[in-house]
Amino acid sequence: MPRPKAAARPHGRIILLSSPKGGTGKSSLARNILVSAAKSDMRVLGIDFDPQGTLHKWFLRREQVRERFPDCLQVEVKVAAIGEWRSALKTTGEFDLVVLDTPPSIEIHYNAAMSLCSAADFVVVPCGATQDDVDASTPWMATLIQAGVPAAFVLNKTNRRTKSYETARTKLLQVGPLCPVEIPLLEDIHVSAGKGLAVLDFAKAKAGDTFDALWSYVAREARL
Ligand SMILES: Nc1ncnc2c1ncn2[C@@H]1O[C@H](COP(=O)(O)OP(=O)(O)O)[C@@H](O)[C@H]1O
Ligand SMILES: [Mg+2]
Repeated sequence: MPRPKAAARPHGRIILLSSPKGGTGKSSLARNILVSAAKSDMRVLGIDFDPQGTLHKWFLRREQVRERFPDCLQVEVKVAAIGEWRSALKTTGEFDLVVLDTPPSIEIHYNAAMSLCSAADFVVVPCGATQDDVDASTPWMATLIQAGVPAAFVLNKTNRRTKSYETARTKLLQVGPLCPVEIPLLEDIHVSAGKGLAVLDFAKAKAGDTFDALWSYVAREARL
């Protein structure tokens, strides 16, 4: 059944970042996707559902940068409790894209997390190339697939030359879709974040092509 057009919906398209494990790259990919969308002239909103507020703190740093450099693209981020997800989404109709960053330990908020994922157009499950990450994220992907939620793993912090990269890739492919773009382990990613920026804020960024490709993939999957 075709999904309703953006104008007919109470909120914009939703891309959600989710994984049961901390440190896999949810917040990092969320901010880079937000900036990619803003560069495509979309009105974007981030909602930070993680009480740690990583995405929101990044936004506050970005606002300070924007005071000095007004050309820096505007990306709004608000905070919300995951239990309040319905009301958080209600006021997002003016945005083309809403990017949801979520906390780890999904088992604590299982019902809310599942409902939120079901409301999303596309769920990105970032995963490192370690056995621990694979153990944590594969049951979650299986749950999403069973619930009919469109989702894909994104391998993050990768080093293609390692055996663990190949092993993780093989194991993830046995369970669910894998984004064809993986994100290497790169200093630029956390250095830019510390300044309230994303990789694509820099014209000659090392990982610029990678994040452009990631954006093309997620935008298509979310039918933007
Ligand atoms: N591809 C990457 N290369 C280098 N550092 C990364 C990369 N992805 C994430 N990081 C860093 O790893 C840490 C955890 O990432 P984060 O996005 O906060 O994970 P999560 O939101 O899943 O807990 C952060 O310090 C972030 O800057
Ligand atoms: Mg986070």
